Amino acid sequence: MQVLLAEEYGFCFGVERAVEMVEGALAAGATVRTLGPLIHNTQEIERLEAEGVQMITAPEEAAGGVTAVIRAHGVTPQVQIELQSRAANVIDATCPFVTKVQKLAERAALKGRDVVLVGNPDHPEMIGVVGYAPHNTYVIRDASEAANLPPLHAPLVVSQTTLKLSAFLEAAAAVRSKADAEPEVVNTICSATRDRQDAARALAGHVDAFYIIGGKHSSNSIKLLAVCAEQCAKSFLIETPDEIDVEDLRGAERVGVTAGASTPNWLIEQVVTKLRSLGDERNATEAVAAVN
Ligand code: F3S
Repeated sequence: MQVLLAEEYGFCFGVERAVEMVEGALAAGATVRTLGPLIHNTQEIERLEAEGVQMITAPEEAAGGVTAVIRAHGVTPQVQIELQSRAANVIDATCPFVTKVQKLAERAALKGRDVVLVGNPDHPEMIGVVGYAPHNTYVIRDASEAANLPPLHAPLVVSQTTLKLSAFLEAAAAVRSKADAEPEVVNTICSATRDRQDAARALAGHVDAFYIIGGKHSSNSIKLLAVCAEQCAKSFLIETPDEIDVEDLRGAERVGVTAGASTPNWLIEQVVTKLRSLGDERNATEAVAAVN
């Protein structure tokens, strides 16, 4: 049984950077507290907890000499200031791709322009960006919500980093009818999600079973599962190697593996090792059966 990894899988640049920053602080002896869960992966959070990292839910909890960490989604400038006034030290692990959206919104608002963000208004990334231009920023989920916008002045249209390109372009086109000038449309979608989906799609038609490693509630892992299931009926979203059911592998010659953007390498290695050992066991059993 061959175990094949998709060309792109696992930690995206921003998540890897955030985890490395936390590990650097731990190595320096800091008492580390993350504002919200650092990443959407229970096993990695548990590993960091075992090393002493704890989560806080509000800046007020950052008192007492702690190093507070802003996660990759970023926060509003107000929250950042509050953290800086309370914590002994603040590590800003905001993903640089998110920082770019924040800066674009801030600069446009300073020039008196309106800003339209396309994305989920309840997502922490969007809440953070709105904080950079709170008085003239509007968040719409999709093109249909553009109808609810007020008249806009020289709008800048940007997107949540994880949005689908087609949804963003449709929404940006719909904003035109509300604008007093041609909107400036800046595609701020990060390619990490799409790259993982494209790589999974390329492999899914060539395997008999596909394991997607990621949190059961992680939206990018759930989307990866859907992409794989389109071409491979035996596609499974698992969090740990214990969830592999040998029965699902019966008759499988080639098994695909991918992982969501918050899945750490050590967990991926555990799954690959287990799949390889199951393949070896099966080969051995078949060899014995052939001899008999
Ligand atoms: Fe950054 Fe893209 Fe990951 S925005 S946190 S690299 S999904």
